[in-house]
Amino acid sequence: MSRKILVTSALPYANGSIHLGHLVEYIQTDIWVRFQKLRGHICHYVCADDTHGTPIMLRAEKEGVTPEQLIARVWQEHFDDFSAFHIRFDNYGSTNSPENRACAETIYRRLRERGLIEVRSIEQFYDPVKQMFLPDRFIKGECPKCHAKDQYGDNCEACGAAYAPTDLIEPFSAVSGAKPELRNSDHYFFKLSADTCQQFLRQWTRSGTLQAEAANKMQEWLGAEGENKLTDWDISRDAPYFGFEIPDAPGKYFYVWLDAPVGYMGSFKQLCARTGIEFDDYWKQGSDAELYHFIGKDILYFHALFWPAELHHAGFRTPTKLFAHGFLTVNGEKMSKSRGTFITARSYVDHIKNTEYLRYYYAAKLNGTMEDIDLNLEDFVAKVNSDLIGKYINIASRCAGFISRKFDGKLGTCNVAATAEFKATFDGNEIARCFEERDFSRALREIMRLADVANQYIAEKAPWTMAKQEGRETELQEVCSTALTLFRDLTLYLKPVLPELAAQVEQFLNLAPLTWSDTWQPLPAGHSINNYQHLATRLDPKLIDAMIAANQESLKNMTENHSEQRHAEHQQKVIEPIAETINIDDFGKLDLRVARIANAEHVEGAAKLLKLTLDIGEENPRTVFAGIKSAYDPEKLKGRMTVMVANLAPRKMKFGLSEGMVLAASGSEPGLFILSPDDGAQPGMRIK
Ligand code: 2FM
Ligand code: ZN
Repeated sequence: MSRKILVTSALPYANGSIHLGHLVEYIQTDIWVRFQKLRGHICHYVCADDTHGTPIMLRAEKEGVTPEQLIARVWQEHFDDFSAFHIRFDNYGSTNSPENRACAETIYRRLRERGLIEVRSIEQFYDPVKQMFLPDRFIKGECPKCHAKDQYGDNCEACGAAYAPTDLIEPFSAVSGAKPELRNSDHYFFKLSADTCQQFLRQWTRSGTLQAEAANKMQEWLGAEGENKLTDWDISRDAPYFGFEIPDAPGKYFYVWLDAPVGYMGSFKQLCARTGIEFDDYWKQGSDAELYHFIGKDILYFHALFWPAELHHAGFRTPTKLFAHGFLTVNGEKMSKSRGTFITARSYVDHIKNTEYLRYYYAAKLNGTMEDIDLNLEDFVAKVNSDLIGKYINIASRCAGFISRKFDGKLGTCNVAATAEFKATFDGNEIARCFEERDFSRALREIMRLADVANQYIAEKAPWTMAKQEGRETELQEVCSTALTLFRDLTLYLKPVLPELAAQVEQFLNLAPLTWSDTWQPLPAGHSINNYQHLATRLDPKLIDAMIAANQESLKNMTENHSEQRHAEHQQKVIEPIAETINIDDFGKLDLRVARIANAEHVEGAAKLLKLTLDIGEENPRTVFAGIKSAYDPEKLKGRMTVMVANLAPRKMKFGLSEGMVLAASGSEPGLFILSPDDGAQPGMRIK
């Protein structure tokens, strides 16, 4: 049965270029959407530029243009970058659109009618020269903890401390340099702390909308049943501000994060106007359409708390599921301008050109969890060349020539027994399941297994030998036709990932656009194919080197703080209060040891635990059950050094005796991080 699906990716902020970090999400979403369309479902993919807020207003001013001119230029750049990577939106809008204004106002009015908007006076830093209130990121000063100079108003980049801008020593405005003054102003709040929001969010969290890691995070944010941990959300900003003025509140504007997710609706409205789709079919409460938001794990807070609570109380449907992904690292580290690994979409296109290589590599790494993914540049080259070219393209390049040269481009009968054998070793439904679950890495492993089978078949039959032997023409034609049928199937399975290449193959094989139901039907005897043209070439590692060198050169004078582009003013960190003071004797009671993880494994029936075998230099290693399953693949833990509490009384658990505890960090944002000692620390060393 055909499903009705609406899909979104997070709206990129119109204050910077699209880079390879952003592309993880758009490529992931685009693959999923293409898969759904290929399966015959009705699936709409909408997105937009996120255009409001202080950073955009100030940047436009600096460039001597209006904010509208700035966002129009960036919109075109973003759109071109996405197109180059074959990200095919059904509508790509802007949050600064009349449709979005109408949706934001409707939601606001309905929340107000339900008594969920409250006006409160708050004290905030004000720049007397620039005559504006300053977002935290635009206030700088000396860190109250480590005394580093020139730190932002929300956290210190030198020591990592988080604080309020009022804690800064000698604060100054990053806009004018003036000393900011504290002033009062009325702000509008969405009452997230209201019982109705809490109750709704608890029920929504339980309904299977979130991945396991995200649901855990929600539990933390919501607190235990009966606890009230949510605080009201400040949704207004004072003029001057680039955004939508709040109805009946002159001089007050919707905070950029209020109208950003509403942009999903605004963009969809434009699609509806263009195509005649009914907006309400997708957004009214009780709609039978599915709604999925692909997001980065850093913006879960906005999508899992504010957004569903707003939608529900404004009488709209809520998302079917949120799909959060991890961050991108390049060569195992955060993207870095000085190392040249801060790679924009444009710079990739300029140097590497073929954007499907990156789509393939990301797909090979994505598994539907919130784990970070690494773009290892050497591995990237190796994977593209060995899998994509060496295994997949190779099938066509080894067989197509014989069909063109010897059989006038006409296929023969496929070998029924061989085709049946392939079919038996391979399950197309399994591939579909992997795509559906966003486990693209597994889907590609399966597909490459089929490519191996095809290559093995070709190697065994050795068509190049047959071609030299008279009387084996029919056999030669049969082998090549069978292999090309398999190639067609591989192309179909890879089509969500490699849409451009698939279109070239369809042209070469002279076929109508492939759909999911085309597999395992042998290409008919007598079918004419076109001459084989090179479909893709090997990726030359020199292109990567040139790209890195060029980036290093062009970005060498830029600061590293690219994170501010995503989060210029909307970090919502919740730092746990510091516990009661203890004295050194209290601390001395803790026996912390460096431990080597000798083994790590899943525990049958345990949703959260991994079973660790820890070596701390004793005769017998210890067994410890640790609640870190959501964050770690046991295979990757084996051999790692960590820190354990060695004198904790053993605890009898359902799955066995736990003889200690490993230490891990977690905060208000998703993620769980076990500790590692510095290089050189040995198992058994005491931590004091
Ligand atoms: O984090 C960001 O870059 C935001 N511009 C994402 C907004 S997503 C949605 F809410 F619009
Ligand atoms: Zn500091």
